[in-house]
Amino acid sequence: MQNIVIKGGARLTGEVRVSGSKNAALPILASSLLASGRSVYRNVPALGDVRTMHKLLGELGAEVETKTEAKAGGITFVDTSKVENVEAPYDLVKTMRASVVVLGPLTARHGRARVSLPGGCAIGARPIDQHLKGLAAMGAKIELEHGYVTARARRLQGATIVFDMVTVTGTENLMMAAALAKGHTTLENSAREPEVEELARVLNKMGARIQGAGTSQITIEGVDELQPIEHTIIPDRIEAGTLLVAAAITRGNVLVRDCLPEHLDAVIAKLRAAGVEITPEEGGLRARAKGDLKPTDISTQPFPGFPTDMQAQFMVLMTRAKGQSLLTETIFENRFMHVPELQRMGADIQVEGRTVAVRGPTRLTGAEVMATDLRASASLVLAGLIADGTTKIRRVYHGPRLRSAGQEAARAGRRRPTRPGADVKGRTKPAAAATRGTTAAPPVPARMLTLALPRGRILEEALLLFREAGIDLSAADKTRAGRRLIIPVEAAGIRVLIVRDTDVPAYVEGGAADLGIAGRDVLDEQGRDLYEPLDLGIGRCRMVVAEPEGRPVDEAAPFHLRYATKFPEITRRHLQSRGVVADVIKLYGSIEIAPLVGLADRIVDLVSSGETLRQHHLREVETILDVSARICVGRAAAKLHGDRIDSLIKRLRAVVR
Ligand code: EPU
Repeated sequence: MQNIVIKGGARLTGEVRVSGSKNAALPILASSLLASGRSVYRNVPALGDVRTMHKLLGELGAEVETKTEAKAGGITFVDTSKVENVEAPYDLVKTMRASVVVLGPLTARHGRARVSLPGGCAIGARPIDQHLKGLAAMGAKIELEHGYVTARARRLQGATIVFDMVTVTGTENLMMAAALAKGHTTLENSAREPEVEELARVLNKMGARIQGAGTSQITIEGVDELQPIEHTIIPDRIEAGTLLVAAAITRGNVLVRDCLPEHLDAVIAKLRAAGVEITPEEGGLRARAKGDLKPTDISTQPFPGFPTDMQAQFMVLMTRAKGQSLLTETIFENRFMHVPELQRMGADIQVEGRTVAVRGPTRLTGAEVMATDLRASASLVLAGLIADGTTKIRRVYHGPRLRSAGQEAARAGRRRPTRPGADVKGRTKPAAAATRGTTAAPPVPARMLTLALPRGRILEEALLLFREAGIDLSAADKTRAGRRLIIPVEAAGIRVLIVRDTDVPAYVEGGAADLGIAGRDVLDEQGRDLYEPLDLGIGRCRMVVAEPEGRPVDEAAPFHLRYATKFPEITRRHLQSRGVVADVIKLYGSIEIAPLVGLADRIVDLVSSGETLRQHHLREVETILDVSARICVGRAAAKLHGDRIDSLIKRLRAVVR
C-alpha cells in the first residue's frame, strides 16, 4: 500500500510513452498455461496486478522470471513445463479478480482447475456465472464448494455459447478453453475489446485456430496441442486516454507516444467534443487544450463505446468544463467510489442512480483522499494535478504503474523524448497505425442505441412496425435470434436487449437501455420516471374488472371485497376513484381461477378477445384501461442521445396507425 503526494498547478508539456496493456497482459500470461515450455512476453507493464499474476503462475508450478530492457519494456519469461498444481488460492484471487482467467486454460490442458471465487470488489459484485455457464456447456463438471469453483473435464468439447452480457474476461476464458477443446466452438455476443483481439492473436501464434475476435461472434476450431511463443504486448489504451486527459486538464501540450489511435476512437471523440485538440502525429497522439472546456455527456459502453475504465478520469476533465455534463455508468453498478473524494476536493458532482451530473468549472483544492480501484486512483492523481496546493492520495494498492503514470505526466514538461519511434506502432496493425499517424482524424463510430424489447407478441409486432419505418431489426426475431438476448443490429445502429416485459422500465430507468417498448399496463403499474413520447398502437388489449357469472358483487357490501390481480397499483387507484373499499391480492398468473376457488371476489386482468374469461364463467364488469405498447425513454438517454431518439421516433410516428 502506498501514498502519492502531488503538488498541483503545473502545465504539462512534452512527450510521454504508454506502457503495455495491463488487461491484455493478464490473460496472455495465463494463456502460457495452455502449452508446455518457455514463453517470452515483452512490453509487460510493471504494476501490482501483473506481479500478482506472476505469483499465481508461480504457485501453479511455472517458473517465472522478469527483467527490464529499455526497448522492450518489462520482459516476462514463463516456463510451464513443470505445472502440476491446478489451484488458484483465495489469497491471490481476492487481490485480483482477473486471476479467474486461469480457469479456462487449466481445465483445458490439465482436465481440472480449482479457483477461489473472486467475490465482490471495489466496483461491484462482478459474478463469473458466464465463465461457468460456458465451461459447463463445453462439458465441464462445475462444483461450487467452500468458496472455490472446481471444473473437471477429461477433454472439453466444442459448443455454441451465447453470453447473456458482454464480458471481457468471460470471452477470454472461454476462448482459451475452446482453443484446446475437441471440435468447433462458437462464442456469441462476445466482447470486442482490443484485448480480446490481442489474446486471439497470441493464441493463433501458439497454434490455435480462432476467427472473428474483435467481432461479437468468435469461432474456434479446437486443436490437440499448443506451443509456447514470444510476443510483444499492445500499448495500454486506458493509460493513453488518461495521459491525454492529463494534458487537457492542465491546459498543456503533450505528445502521448506509442498508443494505437484505433483503440481510442470513442475517447478521442469525447475529448474533441469537450474542446480538446487531439492530433495524430508520427508515433502517437498530441493533446492540446486552451481556454474553457465544453460540457460533454458520456455513457460507458462495451468496446467500441466509451470505456468504463475512462469514466473516472473523464469526470475530472468535466470539472474543467463550463456547464453541466452527465456521465452514465452502465457496465458496473458501483463505480462512483471516486465521487466523494472528488467532492472533498471541491468538485460539484451529484449522483442519481447510475448517472452523475458534473457542474463546472470548479476550482479544486488539494486534500487528503482515499484511493479505491485503479481507475478511481488515476482520477485522483488527475485531480491532484489541477488542484490548488497539495493532494495526498492514500491507500494506493495498485503499484508503480499508477505512480509512474502520474510522475511521467507530472514530469512531462521537463522531459525530452526518451525513445522516439519505438517499435509499438508496428506490432498489431502496422499499416493502419502508420497512416493514421500522418493523416486526418481517426473515424469515430456512432454508438449504438440500446433498445429493450419484451419477448412475445409485442416483440413480433414491434419488429413489423420498425420494418415499415425502414428499420430492419429482424435479426432479433425469435426464429433468427434463437436464445440470444442481446442482438446488435449494426446496420440499424441499434442493439436490441430481449427482456421480460415487466423488466423493460427497469432497464431503461437504470440506463442499461436508452429506450424500451412496454405496455401501458406495465408502465402505469410501475410509475417510473420515464418519458413516454409515442404510443405505438401495438399489443392492444384491455384491462378489465371481472367477476363470476351469476355471483354479482355488491360494491357497497359491509365487508371488504377482495380483488386479485397482477396490477395492484392500478387496481388500488381504480378502487380509490370509485370509493370502493377492498383488499387487493397480488398474483403473478392464473388470475382467472382466483374467484372460482374462493381466493377473491373479483379480478382485474388483461383481456384481448375475452375468451379465457368466458371459459372460466367470468363476466366483464367494466374496462378500466385500454392498453397498447409505448416507447419509453430514460432521462439520461434523452439528454445524451436526444437527437437520434427523436429521429427514430419521427420515423415510427409516420407509420403508427
Ligand atoms: N458479469 C456478470 N457475469 C459474468 C461476467 C461479468 O454478471 O460472468 C458482469 C459484471 O459484473 C459487469 C459486466 O458483466 O457488470 C462486465 O464485466 P466484465 O466481465 O466485462 O469485466 P471483467 O472482464 O471482469 C474487464 C477489465 C476491467 C474492465 C471491464 C469492462 C480485465 C482484467 N479487466 O473486467 O478492467 O473495467 O473488463 O471493460 O480485463 C481495470 O482495468 O481497471 C478494470 C476493472
